[in-house]
Amino acid sequence: MGTFTIAVLGGDGIGPEVTAEAMAAIQAVGTRFGHTFTLREALVGQAAIEAEGEAISSETMALCQRSDAVLFGAVGGAGVGRPDAKAQPENALFRLRKELALFANLRPVRTLPELLSASTLKRETLRGVDMLVVRELTGGLYYGKPSEIREGEGGASSVDTMVYTEAEIERIVHYAFELARERRKSLTSVDKANVLSCSRLWRRVADRVAAEYPDVTLRHLLVDSCAMALIRQPRDFDVIVTENMFGDILTDEASMLAGSMGMLPSASLGTRQTKHGQFGLYEPIHGTAPDITGQSKANPLAAILSAALLLRYSLSLTDEAHAVEAAVRGVIAAGYRTPDIAGARGRVVSTREMGAQVVARIAGAR
Ligand SMILES: NC(=O)c1ccc[n+]([C@@H]2O[C@H](COP(=O)([O-])OP(=O)(O)OC[C@H]3O[C@@H](n4cnc5c(N)ncnc54)[C@H](O)[C@@H]3O)[C@@H](O)[C@H]2O)c1
Repeated sequence: MGTFTIAVLGGDGIGPEVTAEAMAAIQAVGTRFGHTFTLREALVGQAAIEAEGEAISSETMALCQRSDAVLFGAVGGAGVGRPDAKAQPENALFRLRKELALFANLRPVRTLPELLSASTLKRETLRGVDMLVVRELTGGLYYGKPSEIREGEGGASSVDTMVYTEAEIERIVHYAFELARERRKSLTSVDKANVLSCSRLWRRVADRVAAEYPDVTLRHLLVDSCAMALIRQPRDFDVIVTENMFGDILTDEASMLAGSMGMLPSASLGTRQTKHGQFGLYEPIHGTAPDITGQSKANPLAAILSAALLLRYSLSLTDEAHAVEAAVRGVIAAGYRTPDIAGARGRVVSTREMGAQVVARIAGAR
């Protein structure tokens, strides 16, 4: 019977709505398995800017540092953000990732048989898809400097900078090879080596690291070609490793294989160990969805599945993680659907009702 502390940062938009359901799922696990989870909530994003003057305060950073894991919702408004500015919601996430050294973002993509019709793609293309995208999270274009718009007399110009060191590439590629070893032993490294120097270095390092994993097959794919192959033959992918922006874009695309952004969880990990497991931050891959905020339409399953990853990786509670994942499968099998995955069939329910159905199954009531 363990005692665990989790920092909970719901954020903006639908973030707090889906995070509330993930918290309820964690507390249901506590009741069923006899654990004590202390969930400490704090503001982040636009909500924190309004109340505390910055996207994430030092107190909230400290709370995350001393917790066993962080459960995160989403941040951002309807406008276009500037991640470098202190009073921008996205700054919270960038600071968390960098200061907590969470360089590996794991995004599993699986199709559930009952949700094949929720996707716009053909059922036969989707059946049996089971891949893991490993996105590098603390380097590349999102962090490189300079990054600015330069006003000039002849018109404005702009610059962003993509930087990757050999060491950054090596650690994420190693991470992905280790994960591939535990799965079907097939790794696809995605880059744009025909154009970008960062990608040419990426490929060189990946080939070098591959020599240490003779049991894993490595193939290289250009990002544009990968975008096509993900839709054409998604079953061909086992583990994908790629840099920050390519991973960001490709996983939004891959979410359509699972039926909705509201179905895809993620884990952001580094090398820090706590007494319970690997420290990490867990969040759905989706954003704040301003178009459906406050309407009880948000699908909480990605947030709940992120909580399952938290139990598995940061708290080493494998049976408990299985219980949450089984509850999600049970809810889908029973026909409950939020509007994003409703398709032609199923019973359309609210965010709260979907969460309550999962909780009931974790508790063993259904
Ligand atoms: N990690 C994060 O915090 C994160 C990630 C992505 C985007 N954002 C931010 O979110 C804001 C909105 O961005 P966006 O509209 O491009 O992306 P989004 O993911 O918020 O929404 C894209 C589409 O998917 C739908 N959707 C997303 N999550 C859903 C869910 N759980 N259930 C049902 N439908 C869902 C939305 O309604 C919308 O139609 C922006 O400010 C952006 O910066 C934050």
